[in-house]
Amino acid sequence: MRAITIPEFGDEQVLTLADVPDPTPGPGDVLIDVAAAGVNRADLLQRKGFYDPPAGASPLPGLEVSGTVAAVGADVTDWRPGDRVCALLTGGGYAQQVVVPAGQVLPVPEGVDLVDAAGLPEVVCTVWSNVFDTARLRAGDVLLIHGGSSGIGTMAIQLAVAAGATVAVTAGTAAKLDACRDLGATILINYREEDFVTELSRLTDGHGADVILDVIGAKYLDRNVSALADGGRLVVIGLQGGATAELNLGKLMATRGSVIGTTLRSRTDADKARVVAGVREQAWPLIEAGTVRPIIFERVPFAEAPRAHRILADSHHVGKVLLVP
Ligand SMILES: NC(=O)c1ccc[n+]([C@@H]2O[C@H](COP(=O)([O-])OP(=O)(O)OC[C@H]3O[C@@H](n4cnc5c(N)ncnc54)[C@H](OP(=O)(O)O)[C@@H]3O)[C@@H](O)[C@H]2O)c1
Repeated sequence: MRAITIPEFGDEQVLTLADVPDPTPGPGDVLIDVAAAGVNRADLLQRKGFYDPPAGASPLPGLEVSGTVAAVGADVTDWRPGDRVCALLTGGGYAQQVVVPAGQVLPVPEGVDLVDAAGLPEVVCTVWSNVFDTARLRAGDVLLIHGGSSGIGTMAIQLAVAAGATVAVTAGTAAKLDACRDLGATILINYREEDFVTELSRLTDGHGADVILDVIGAKYLDRNVSALADGGRLVVIGLQGGATAELNLGKLMATRGSVIGTTLRSRTDADKARVVAGVREQAWPLIEAGTVRPIIFERVPFAEAPRAHRILADSHHVGKVLLVP
């Protein structure tokens, strides 16, 4: 089959369309004919050599796909050839076919285009597991999302609004903040022009954020802790602003706050299956009702994979970029 490979680490031009061996499903696996693969910021880090696939995972990039089931391995009873599906992967999505444990497969939600469904698994699973499963966002809470216009951010806004939360976002341009408002965010902070701690406090009458979904890490740690409401939960899922910072524990104690860090990719297959089951039960009905939808910025052909990575690096996009074989 054809796949986008990383023969050497480097800029986006290293991405190379090549022939690679066809994958075969083992017991408990599903083989998918890929209709599209979602592009995630993690793929850019992997390409640069900063994010190795976990042991045993495909060396090919790609953490999510949509497509059609081509075959199933022994012991798989939930899926059949021809089923329209999307899947959360540990790697291997940038290819014409991919093998994935059956527990990480989801049906394409009713009413969603097969290709667009590739933009769902990674963001919905990440947002659900962090914001709802771990940080326990509830109706009436204030959620602060850094990077509201990102793939992750556009899904987090929609799911949190659907859950009855007040959503605050940061973004770097007025146009991106407008896009976040269209999705339901009501507190819009341009982080290049305003201090998010001051603005959030002002616009929530001093309350702050019950939950913060953070993709910046070290650079925002101190200010994030300052922005927490009493008993607030800061969940760090990205390190675009570095990994090491000083934490004022006194400030954390005073607000009875929590700081949590997670990655989805390194979780066990069993844990990923648990997240996927939670998403299917709690988030999928919102998508099928049309309350929440995949936000797709562009579909890019496999042959132009370097351009797809350049779009994310330049960061003028809103939502997801997809690669189409
Ligand atoms: N831990 C996990 O399991 C997990 C899973 C999925 C994703 N992630 C992380 O989530 C993040 C988003 O991923 P993605 O694929 O959705 O990427 P993406 O679409 O490329 O989004 C990156 C976002 O970061 C924003 N940003 C950059 N600097 C910022 C700053 N100083 N303040 C606020 N926002 C800033 C950008 O907004 P502007 O262009 O406006 O600056 C952009 O919207 C990445 O860091 C990724 O590694 C983690």
